[in-house]
Amino acid sequence: MTRTLDEVVAEIKSRLDIVDVVSESVILKKNGNRYWGCCPFHKEKTPSFSVNPAIGIYKCFGCGEGGDALKFIMKTKNMSFMEVIKDLAQKYGIEMPSNMKVDEQAKDKKAQMELACQKAAIFYHDVLINRTSEEISFATEYLEGRSISREVIDRFTLGYAPKAYTTLYDVLKKDFSDEILIKAGLILEGKDGKPPIDRFRGRIIIPIQDENGNYVAFGARALYKDQTPKYLNSSDSLIYNKSKLLYGLYTAKDAIKSEDGVILMEGYFDVISAQAHGVQNVVGVCGTALTPDHIRLLSRYTKSRRLYLSFDTDGAGQKATNRSAGLIREAFQGLGSIKQFDESYIAASDDKYSCEIRVVCPPEGKDPDEFIRTIGADSFKSIVQNAPLLIDFQVNSLLKKKNEYKTPQEKSKYIQEFLPVLVEINNNIIRSEYVKMVAGALKVSEKALETEVIRAKNFGRDTYSAQPFKKNVKKNVSIIEKAQKNLLSVFLVTDSHFSFTRINEMIDNSYFSNETLINVKSTIDKLICTVNNVKELIEQLYTAYVEDAETQQVLTDLTGIAETFTGLSDEDFEVLIEDNIARIKKCRWEEEKEKMRNLYKDADEDDIEALKLQMQLRDKINNRIKSEKIND
Ligand code: UTP
Ligand code: MN
Repeated sequence: MTRTLDEVVAEIKSRLDIVDVVSESVILKKNGNRYWGCCPFHKEKTPSFSVNPAIGIYKCFGCGEGGDALKFIMKTKNMSFMEVIKDLAQKYGIEMPSNMKVDEQAKDKKAQMELACQKAAIFYHDVLINRTSEEISFATEYLEGRSISREVIDRFTLGYAPKAYTTLYDVLKKDFSDEILIKAGLILEGKDGKPPIDRFRGRIIIPIQDENGNYVAFGARALYKDQTPKYLNSSDSLIYNKSKLLYGLYTAKDAIKSEDGVILMEGYFDVISAQAHGVQNVVGVCGTALTPDHIRLLSRYTKSRRLYLSFDTDGAGQKATNRSAGLIREAFQGLGSIKQFDESYIAASDDKYSCEIRVVCPPEGKDPDEFIRTIGADSFKSIVQNAPLLIDFQVNSLLKKKNEYKTPQEKSKYIQEFLPVLVEINNNIIRSEYVKMVAGALKVSEKALETEVIRAKNFGRDTYSAQPFKKNVKKNVSIIEKAQKNLLSVFLVTDSHFSFTRINEMIDNSYFSNETLINVKSTIDKLICTVNNVKELIEQLYTAYVEDAETQQVLTDLTGIAETFTGLSDEDFEVLIEDNIARIKKCRWEEEKEKMRNLYKDADEDDIEALKLQMQLRDKINNRIKSEKIND
């Protein structure tokens, strides 16, 4: 059954969840009935971007941008309305109306690349487990040496890419064009007219799946001496973006949700070992540094945003820990402070933390894979359970170095290094505890250190408040326009007890003079015959004006105003409408009076005309006074 475009759009909308959609680009935190985050459309450090799931819209109070889920996708992905609809129809398996089939070629390319990757993964896996040769035995022994069981090989579809030049190509060329195989990163273009060759040769193959389980890329570990690089990774492609993908997420996501926490590791085999040994909520970055996109991805799965960093314990690993912590901090900025105390402290009321960063540092300088294999998953789990908060980890690692600093100059230098950590602690009691600890360890005056901290804190605040965000609120919205907008907003109040028809009776078309508002009003008139509730009305309005940015902006204003009208009693609701109607009438009257006066002035020369006008004016005033008396 093919549907009409309207039906397809409606179906898509019913499946879209504004919070899910926005969460792909913004880290949101719930507060009351809304979610808040930092606006993706302008630079800001304190969240003024809000999502209201009840009516399915987002709005930024900083820059004024707002709309529904579809508009958000269009803006953030820079796609047209039809592109978004086609894309989502494909994603949800909804058939598009036959006269506008999806852009087959591009879609087809992606699908074929994914299929090629899947076939490649299965092929390499089959080579490893079903074929025999000297090199395959070598690969098998290597994996046994790393305690990778057959079960784990199956679970992660591990494979082996033989040394020969075209093992994979020979198999896949029957089903796929060279172009697809090259784009998928499986083969390399042949030089000087020679045929293509396999990209991965003589390596253990680790297939990489996206969040939904599609095979999209590969990591391939060297097996032989002098074979470089140690890991050869797929490059980014149409189907693979390593700065947005986390290795192991597909198999970890349920555990991340249920444990409400995620452990981040650096290596493929760290993730494999951990998950294979029952530490399931583990993901890894694929040969790249952690990015804000990774953090956003994870924030969709863990509600309390508990992130464990489990990187190597060596110097490089420590650096990665600090860098990642900085990045996480930035990603969550403005949503609250980072959790800085355990329950032994009593939280002050302002300690609403946005995320919790803990650092997993197994002793003995082993990476997670080695630790789990040699000491055991249970020990690892208990280390995770007792993992210190980032702040304690940082304090400890700095305190470890305390003996290196003896002279006043050295101590002062050390304190400069340490201040950012202390400055970040928002809870005064906790901060003073740490100040005491550090001052004691360094044998410096506690008071002096406290003063330094406060100075650094205030300095940060000054530089920040020096850049207030630009308010894009239109000034000089005339009173009449404001009143007209108020009247239209009344239709969009979610909790009013009046039906659309009743509201329409109370409001009259004649009160609208601005062209955009007249259009919106007539669209509302049409829509209220079919929609069932305010949420639908708002959605339909945004869709009706999808190509009209100016009107969409007005819609955003209207929904914003409507929100301020929630919670009114029926009586107040009626008064609100009456007040605005009265205000519009009054403005009109003033305008008219002004017009008459001007005419009167111009007519000065011609006495008869002037007299006529004067009488008209007086009539009008009299009529108005009469009608006001009646209304009272
Ligand atoms: P490591 O060098 O710490 O390796 O790189 P590892 O994970 O412990 O690997 P094994 O246990 O020796 O096999 C950590 C991660 O960095 C990426 C890989 O994702 C690797 O797992 N990496 C490393 C590369 O992408 N390319 C390289 O050449 C090296
Ligand atoms: Mn390792």
